[in-house]
Amino acid sequence: MEENNDHRRPEDDYDLNKPVVSSPAAATGLRRNLTSYGDAHFSLFLRKAFIKALGYSDDALSRPIIGIINTYSSYNACHANVPNLIEAVKRGVQLQGGLPIDFPTISLHESFAAPTSMFLRNLMSIDTEEMIRAQPMDACVMIGGCDKTVPAQLMGGISANKPILPLLTGPMMPGSYRGQRLGACTDCRNNWAKYRAGEIDIEEISAINEELAPTSGTCGVMGTASTMACITAALGLIPLRGASAPAVSSTRLRIAEETGANAVAAAKAKRTPQEILTKESFLNAITVLQAIGGSTNGIVHIMAIVNRHPKLQGEITLQTFDDIGRKTPMLIDLKPSGENYMTDFHNAGGMLALMHTLRPLLHLNAMTITGKTLGEVLDESPFKSFPFSTQVIRPLSDPLYPWSSLVVLRGNIAPDGAIIKASASKDRRLLRHSGPAVVFENIADMTARIDDPDLPFTPDSVLVLKSIGPVGNPGMPEAGLIPIPRKLGRQGVQDMLRLSDGRMSGTAGGTIVLHISPESALPESPFGIVRTGDVITCDVEARKLQLEISDEELKRRIEERRVIQSEKMRIEYAQRGYRGLYLRSVNQAQDGVDFDFLTARGATRS
Ligand code: FES
Repeated sequence: MEENNDHRRPEDDYDLNKPVVSSPAAATGLRRNLTSYGDAHFSLFLRKAFIKALGYSDDALSRPIIGIINTYSSYNACHANVPNLIEAVKRGVQLQGGLPIDFPTISLHESFAAPTSMFLRNLMSIDTEEMIRAQPMDACVMIGGCDKTVPAQLMGGISANKPILPLLTGPMMPGSYRGQRLGACTDCRNNWAKYRAGEIDIEEISAINEELAPTSGTCGVMGTASTMACITAALGLIPLRGASAPAVSSTRLRIAEETGANAVAAAKAKRTPQEILTKESFLNAITVLQAIGGSTNGIVHIMAIVNRHPKLQGEITLQTFDDIGRKTPMLIDLKPSGENYMTDFHNAGGMLALMHTLRPLLHLNAMTITGKTLGEVLDESPFKSFPFSTQVIRPLSDPLYPWSSLVVLRGNIAPDGAIIKASASKDRRLLRHSGPAVVFENIADMTARIDDPDLPFTPDSVLVLKSIGPVGNPGMPEAGLIPIPRKLGRQGVQDMLRLSDGRMSGTAGGTIVLHISPESALPESPFGIVRTGDVITCDVEARKLQLEISDEELKRRIEERRVIQSEKMRIEYAQRGYRGLYLRSVNQAQDGVDFDFLTARGATRS
């Protein structure tokens, strides 16, 4: 039973004959999560003494407390608007009679985290969970945006299980170079490939660099940040327009104010993520992922998020993504699969228009953070399409790609699965292809040899990169977009079948098979035994990824490398600090690359 503090006088807090709280679970506001001094009255007395140094009155301190996670960092341009968002959230909280208190957690930017931001995602999720658990708050607004921040916050927030309200920083505006629109980071990669192939010179690439990220905010295409924003909206945790309103828009600030107000209501109703997020919520999120042609990283993040939920263990697997893909067309014409930018998606109606279009495929009974079902939210906000909206957000009858933008492959080198973003293939013939492998054992090997004119590359070659999986290269780098060898690039080859156990940026495109599992670093990995000259077959329609050797030969090669690979990993696992913890604890791509001990299955904690 929740405490009722309405008639409590400030001095009652120090009355030794009255309990501070009837039970820890019933505590609210400042009485939550008291620091342990062995004397609850003293703990509260001390807490109030210190917070009063910040000028708070007893009236303010009696209100529901809304924590606001501040992920501002001068390294992180994707989060540059966080200070303004915090002010707007505070306004929304105060208008509803709550007390907003902001606090910092780790901030991660893709280009400023070595070895990768993914290496630190789980650390950020621990930071998020533990700070929500440790500090007194009745709900928490989690401000994030850049690729790994939103998944980290959702993972930590679901584990902490207080009411959580994500608030996205929003996408950046597109730039322009000689009349052509540009946006990070699809156009970063396209133009870099042109530069490598000698199509543009050093002056042009320098000028383009000035325009790729012209404002603050997250990457302006359907990369991982935009994908996670759409998924968060599909889960019902943010207002629908909150997925796409530009970072620099006044709409973004109004969404922040609304989020603050929603947080007070969610706190009062004790609307926790483990209560409102159901299997249906995640099925909706995966339907949206397929319909937007979202980032392959979205699959890893959704698996990590869902595996934090104690009631959803085993309910969603890689197979779920493939099953939903088979009945979900891709509707959004955004880069890297299409032509437009996130601002276009927003102007076309954004998630509201998309959810209305997808309505026949959605579970409308899924709950949202507002306490209304998705169906009720859509009923209250009708959307009438117009020519531009159907150009960017296609109707079900005229999709951009008929089905399965994201496909799960299996075969003898990927018994636990692999992913391909079929809609981003630049040469669709490669979606059914057999060719001889050219194998790189790791990133250093690839960097040293990819442009070697003597390597036996042809346009039919299958480029294979090993040792970029979760353990093999901690953080599972986004190196799956193996560059086209320069000698082929200069002949006009723009796409090749490429395979790895790593990830790829959501902003990248090509015929790229990723997340091959179990990864090559593991002693028992069949992917680890692929050699240059082996023939590999990929058949997306048949969901097949096969190394054309006999089962006996496959087993013989695995046995041949098992001992040496086991010894190598034993030395790796013995490393100190966070890196050692990561190596010993991280699970495989199909489980979300989370730490085993953080998953709901890992251990129980109240
Ligand atoms: Fe932050 Fe792309 S670098 S979203």
